[in-house]
Amino acid sequence: MDKPNKRILSGVQPSGDLHLGNYLGAIKNFVSLQDEYECFFCVVDLHAITVWQDPATLAQKTREVTAAFIASGIDSKKNTLFVQSQVPQHSQLAWAFSCIARMGWLNRMTQFKDKAGKNSENVSVGLYSYPTLMAADILIYLATHVPVGEDQKQHLELTRDIAQKFNNDFKNDLFPIPEPLILGEAKRVMSLRDGTKKMSKSDPSDYSRIMLSDTQDEIIQKIKKAKTDPLPLPDNLVAAKSRPEALNLLTLYAALSDADTETVIRNYAGKHFSQFKKDLGDLASSKLAPISLEINKLMNDKDFLDSIINTGKEKAISVAEPVLKQVYEIIGFLSR
Ligand code: TYM
Repeated sequence: MDKPNKRILSGVQPSGDLHLGNYLGAIKNFVSLQDEYECFFCVVDLHAITVWQDPATLAQKTREVTAAFIASGIDSKKNTLFVQSQVPQHSQLAWAFSCIARMGWLNRMTQFKDKAGKNSENVSVGLYSYPTLMAADILIYLATHVPVGEDQKQHLELTRDIAQKFNNDFKNDLFPIPEPLILGEAKRVMSLRDGTKKMSKSDPSDYSRIMLSDTQDEIIQKIKKAKTDPLPLPDNLVAAKSRPEALNLLTLYAALSDADTETVIRNYAGKHFSQFKKDLGDLASSKLAPISLEINKLMNDKDFLDSIINTGKEKAISVAEPVLKQVYEIIGFLSR
C-alpha cells in the first residue's frame, strides 16, 4: 500500500450553524492548504449525535456544512468532501481503537469534562469515547497532517498516542504519527461576550458569536455590542495579552485581513474601540457576506450537493477500505 507523506484529514460537526471560530480556526486554513496537500474533508455527523440532534435538522446541517466548505473556496473536484456516516470504515476502526486507548487517557480529555460538566452520569457513552472515533477518522486515511483549531489539540495528542500504541502492540509501522496544523492568527476565537471563553455553538447568547449565516447588519451589530474595556486600544502585544476582549477583536481583524496581530495593534494603537469596531464590522461583513450568499445558493441545489457527497463517499471508501483490511489482518481477524 502506498504511504502518503502529505495527506490531510479534518472534520467539522453538523451540529448547528457554523460560526466565525469554525471558519477562521479551520475552514479558512483548509482552503489555503488544498494546493499543497491531498485533502479529505469530512462532515462528522457521527460525532454530532454524541448529543441529541433532531433528525431532519441533522440532514439539513450536513448539507449546509458541505455547502460551507465549497462556498469558502474548497475545490470539490480536487479534494475529497464526504460525510462520515457514509464511510463505515470510520466506525469499524473506532471500535478497534477503543480497545487500544486506555481509560486513563480518555479521563484526561478536558473537552469531555467541559461538555459533561456536573452531568457526567447522564451524558452519552459516545460523548466519552468520541476521541477514539476522531483518531479513526484521521488514521483510516493514514493522514499525516490535521488542520484544526487549538481546542482540538488534546484530541490530536490522543490520536498520536493511539497510533503509536497500535504500532508498538502489533510490531508494525502502519500508522503515521499525524501532526496537528494549528494555523493563522485566530487559533482560538473567543466569545464576543467574554474574552476568556471560547466562541462556541453551545453558548446560550447569540451575541457571543458571529455565524456564517448572519446578515451583514447582524455582523456589524454583534461587533458593535462586543464586550470591551474602557481603555483605548493597546499599543503592544504584551499589553493586549492582559486584555482578553481587546486581543480577541484584534486577532479577528488580523485573521480576516491576512495580516499579523502585531501589525494590526500598531495600526490601531491608542485609538478608540468605536472606530476599530466599525472597521472590524465592515471587514467581517464584507468577507463573510459572499460566503453566506454562496451557501444559500448551494442549499437551493440539493442535487448538486448530493452528487458531490456521493462522489466523495466513493473516493473516501476506496482509500479507507484497504487500510481497514490491513488493520484487520494485523489484529488477527479472519479475512472475509
Ligand atoms: P468542531 O465541529 O467543534 O469544530 C470544527 C473546527 O473548528 C474549530 N473551532 C475553532 N477554532 C478556533 N476558535 C474557535 N472558537 C473554534 N471552535 C471550533 C475546531 O478546532 C475544528 O477544527 N472533534 C472535532 C471534529 C472532528 C475532527 C475529526 C477534526 C471529528 N473528527 C478529525 C479533525 C480531524 C470537532 O468537534 O470540531
